[in-house]
Amino acid sequence: MRIALAAAICILTGSAAAEDTSQPLPPRQISWPFSGPLGTYDRGTLQRGFQVYKEVCSACHSLNLVAFHDLAAPGGPGFTLAQAKAIAAGYKLPADPDDRGEIFDEHGNRLKRPGVLADHFPPPFANEQAARANNSGALPPDLSLIVKARVGGADYVYSILTGFGHKPPKGFAVLANKYYNPYFNGRNISMPPPLNKGSVSFADGTPATVGNEAKAVTTFLAWASEPNLEQRHRLGFQVMAFLVLLSGLLFLTYRKIWKDKH
Ligand code: HEC
Repeated sequence: MRIALAAAICILTGSAAAEDTSQPLPPRQISWPFSGPLGTYDRGTLQRGFQVYKEVCSACHSLNLVAFHDLAAPGGPGFTLAQAKAIAAGYKLPADPDDRGEIFDEHGNRLKRPGVLADHFPPPFANEQAARANNSGALPPDLSLIVKARVGGADYVYSILTGFGHKPPKGFAVLANKYYNPYFNGRNISMPPPLNKGSVSFADGTPATVGNEAKAVTTFLAWASEPNLEQRHRLGFQVMAFLVLLSGLLFLTYRKIWKDKH
């Protein structure tokens, strides 16, 4: 009876049921294979995620803390050293002065050289001003630590990427040059929807749905944020196994020592 009354009041006033748009929605909860005490990254997903970052996100977002040799490091996307070298060589980085001491060619363009394993991913823009000028004043944050830096972690990043296309609630103002995304603080985001069906084409035949693209790139960014996760989980497991074994041995020792004492 009381519930029915409350429901009736809600419907009549419409206020209690209306969404509070001043707050973002809580991120969608995904069960990630890398969460939990024994979680690991799926190599295929990491490689597809790298592809999404490279072909889509790197147009606006830097990944300053990741070096090309990391792509071949244990616990990472599992590229061979030769593959990582080839990936690095596909990028162009600012070159050192040439033998004339110049860093610009005759047309005034910055001299470039192919990347090597020791290089980090080059940023898409020369500086913050250039980044903002290209993104209607907003700064696309560096993605190296984004999964660690945001409450909700991987769930948050995934929700942002898949959170476009919702109809804004009645009365909500979507600002100029912004997009409605209920998972973003303020719900007005300056990032245009970055992923579409078929934004990339996965070589392993995984369908390039927005969900799969978002899952892959979020996994890749989770790895970038925490490249030693697998090692940490393995060590944790070994420590636990050791402690269990040690407890068993101590118990047997205790039994043996006290056997004749009472
Ligand atoms: C056209 C440029 C552009 C592309 C491409 C792009 N982004 Fe963004 N992104 C932005 C901008 C600009 C912001 C800042 C939004 C704001 O402050 O309103 C942003 C914000 C974000 C945020 C939210 C950060 C926060 O502060 O909470 C995440 C996460 C993100 N981008 C991830 C990605 C990923 C992953 C990709 C690739 C699938 C991608 N972006 C592609 C421009 C871009």
